[in-house]
Amino acid sequence: MSDSQANMQSETQSLEHYWMPFTANRQFKSKPRMLAEAQGMYYKDTTGRPVLDGTAGLWCCNAGHGRKEISQAVSKQIHQMDYAPSFQMGHPIAFELAERLAQISPEGLNKVFFTNSGSESVDSALKIAINYHRARGEATRTRFIGRELGYHGVGFGGISVGGIGGNRKTFSQQLLPGVDHLPHTLDMQDNAFSRGMPKTGAEKADVLEQLVALHGAENIAAVIVEPMSGSAGVILPPEGYLQRLREITKKYGILLIFDEVITGFGRVGDAFASQRWGVTPDMITTAKALNNGAIPMGAVLIDDAIYDASMQGPDGIELFHGYTYSGHPVAAAAAIATLDIYQNEQLFERSRELEGYFEEAVHSLKGLPNIIDIRNIGLVGGIQFSPSEEGVGKRGFGIFEHCFANGTLVRATADIIAISPPLIIDKQQIDQIVNTLGDAIRAVG
Ligand SMILES: Cc1ncc(COP(=O)(O)O)c(C=O)c1O
Repeated sequence: MSDSQANMQSETQSLEHYWMPFTANRQFKSKPRMLAEAQGMYYKDTTGRPVLDGTAGLWCCNAGHGRKEISQAVSKQIHQMDYAPSFQMGHPIAFELAERLAQISPEGLNKVFFTNSGSESVDSALKIAINYHRARGEATRTRFIGRELGYHGVGFGGISVGGIGGNRKTFSQQLLPGVDHLPHTLDMQDNAFSRGMPKTGAEKADVLEQLVALHGAENIAAVIVEPMSGSAGVILPPEGYLQRLREITKKYGILLIFDEVITGFGRVGDAFASQRWGVTPDMITTAKALNNGAIPMGAVLIDDAIYDASMQGPDGIELFHGYTYSGHPVAAAAAIATLDIYQNEQLFERSRELEGYFEEAVHSLKGLPNIIDIRNIGLVGGIQFSPSEEGVGKRGFGIFEHCFANGTLVRATADIIAISPPLIIDKQQIDQIVNTLGDAIRAVG
């Protein structure tokens, strides 16, 4: 019996017990979409039908699926040492991975704090920011500034600095106090159908000056933004915007955190968006493609100055924070194997090389029904639709379902379709994604 057949059988089992995350559970369970196998650019569903992966899983599998190098490294490590305590004990592979990450990080970000997810990376970075200011005798610096439409995971810290209404509303009375939000940078009036960075809008960063005037720099710990917002629907920074944020944060001693959980590891044509756009923050949060999504893992990349200042206090634990699985040996083994693949196959460069072809392909959809914007950078594209009369999100979801039924996985966030394929994709497969999408757009209307 093949794996697909085995999974088909399991489909007859109850779907009732698993409360699925960020999923319309009742809708899903009435009409399940089940994936059972993955190899290269393709998933197979539980009937054995191939599905082209237009989303690298969930922005995770940049090296494609079923990579033997990763599974062999995982198998070797789990046999050698399955787990080791992460507090007051070390194991060589976590140190090795930290060194490898420092080698590809932007200049100065040479320290690494390990987590198990993007949400944990974000909350860790926020805590490290406060800890750093306290260590330097600036304990009043506790406020955070996020941005509208930002997504920083689902911890209470992350949803507090995040700017997606739907993720915050239910929990609104319990969010962190002392958080403000910069305006988002999506401007479809002036910048619809931009290719790469939009030309106008850098001045939106200047709102930071107003927030500094309002609260006093001495009360602000950090600004956190995604250099390119992924989850809210591929929102690019205008030219000069990130530079401006960097200048203002530097001027006032405020830390700048780039949340690169999506943009890290080649998605935008460089190891990190920070390098692509020539702006170095004080910390970078990562997860997902760090180990090709093989095993949950995240990491915060940290400027030496933050680490050094934090090591100045009295003897003892310098940061009261950490996870049972920080630097997990098996996850770390998967990450090292993944970084080797990225390097050996030059996948970050490949993402940049394919960018032009990908850009032409996604922008060729312009003119199809209800498309109001198309945005792209590296190997990520966002196509935005006007909402249908049935309500916000119905059109996006209909297109997503139609694509899946026709063998291509894309991602829908409200009425925006995002495409973010593994970086191993070829031109023919780019065409296949865009053609399937075009058919779906015409069919759904
Ligand atoms: C920018 C960003 N930050 C944080 C997260 C949260 O990551 P996780 O789901 O691994 O907690 C995500 C997830 O998509 C993300 O895109």
